[in-house]
Amino acid sequence: MELFDVYPLFDITIDKGQGCHVWDDKGQEYLDLYGGHAVISVGHSHPHYVEAITRQVNKLGFYSNSVQNPLQRELAHRLGKVCGYDDYQLFLINSGAEANENALKLSSFYNGRTRVLSLEKAFHGRTSLAVEVTNNPKIISPINDNGHVTYLPINDLQPWKAEIEKGDVCAVIIECIQGVGGIRLVTKEFLQGLRELCDQYDTVLICDEIQCGYGRSGKFFAHQHLGVKPDIITVAKGICNGFPMGGVLISPKFKPVYGQLGTTFGGNHLGCAGALAVLDVIEQEKLVENAAKVGTYLIDTLTAEMKAGNLPHVVDVRGQGLMIGIELDIPYKEPRTRLIKEQHCFTGCSGTNVIRLLPPLCLSMDEAKDFVERFKTVLNAQ
Ligand SMILES: Cc1ncc(COP(=O)(O)O)c(C=O)c1O
Repeated sequence: MELFDVYPLFDITIDKGQGCHVWDDKGQEYLDLYGGHAVISVGHSHPHYVEAITRQVNKLGFYSNSVQNPLQRELAHRLGKVCGYDDYQLFLINSGAEANENALKLSSFYNGRTRVLSLEKAFHGRTSLAVEVTNNPKIISPINDNGHVTYLPINDLQPWKAEIEKGDVCAVIIECIQGVGGIRLVTKEFLQGLRELCDQYDTVLICDEIQCGYGRSGKFFAHQHLGVKPDIITVAKGICNGFPMGGVLISPKFKPVYGQLGTTFGGNHLGCAGALAVLDVIEQEKLVENAAKVGTYLIDTLTAEMKAGNLPHVVDVRGQGLMIGIELDIPYKEPRTRLIKEQHCFTGCSGTNVIRLLPPLCLSMDEAKDFVERFKTVLNAQ
């Protein structure tokens, strides 16, 4: 059997990682400003994480959600404290799409409605409802195209007001920093306006923190920069540093009903042990604070270098913490490929001309400086 060929791949095989560096099978080292697509939060092969996972798998990797699992309860308590949502409830699944799927399902159970408002350029995953709220017709198959969703512009409250006032909107789903959409930031006025409208019309406000959350923005959640509490928060990616896991944080206004949500693998022992170790490291190494500090340095330095004319083709630098978009006036393809091939540095990308930085949250100032130099070299030889 061959693989179902849906990914355009670089001809590189990564087989080892440590902190913010990875190595290919020929021994070449790479600086990782991509974090395996915003997934590596505490750094590759962090010893505390490796030890916790190893210890757990030696004891018990999995049982089922039909018996008590104290690790799930411990994770809920710890996460509630670390992120500031002590009074919320946690439902665990295995991916970001599943987190959004369950958030939307729960919203519809709650108010009985079926319409959803989503942002233009939104990305929320590839399963049935998660892909329907994703604003990319190329990945919405006819069977997912069920007319539940209206896409509206970012930071322009009026059209959202007009829709929510109709009284039939089940949920609003928002990434406070759009990832796939090109690192576009939601404003405080916009999110606060949405919060008021959602309260008034009993519409559920969902913040998708799968990419921008878990410390990446320099606060635990990106919406915490904007002074709003969502009804539901979805997380995945960095929650278990590469082990597949997702979570739905649910406000007390939702009452759980036996059997309404469920999963075989979600919240398994191994994942919970890994996620607890991730929280240990985030706290002990102050990684949220580090993301704020090193992210601010990167944004300020890249902006200053752009203004000084030292970064040809860069037209905008935007973002928050370690979620940064560098917009070019040329397609990202060549500079990104040269960063990998010549400078041995991985980055992400968005659209056609945005380089996206999503490094592990432990990126050091020296590694940030190193990236700026490698990026300068590539653009100046362009
Ligand atoms: C904002 C956002 N939501 C949802 C998802 C989907 O997550 P997963 O690929 O784990 O299903 C992603 C993945 O990139 C994402 O960036």
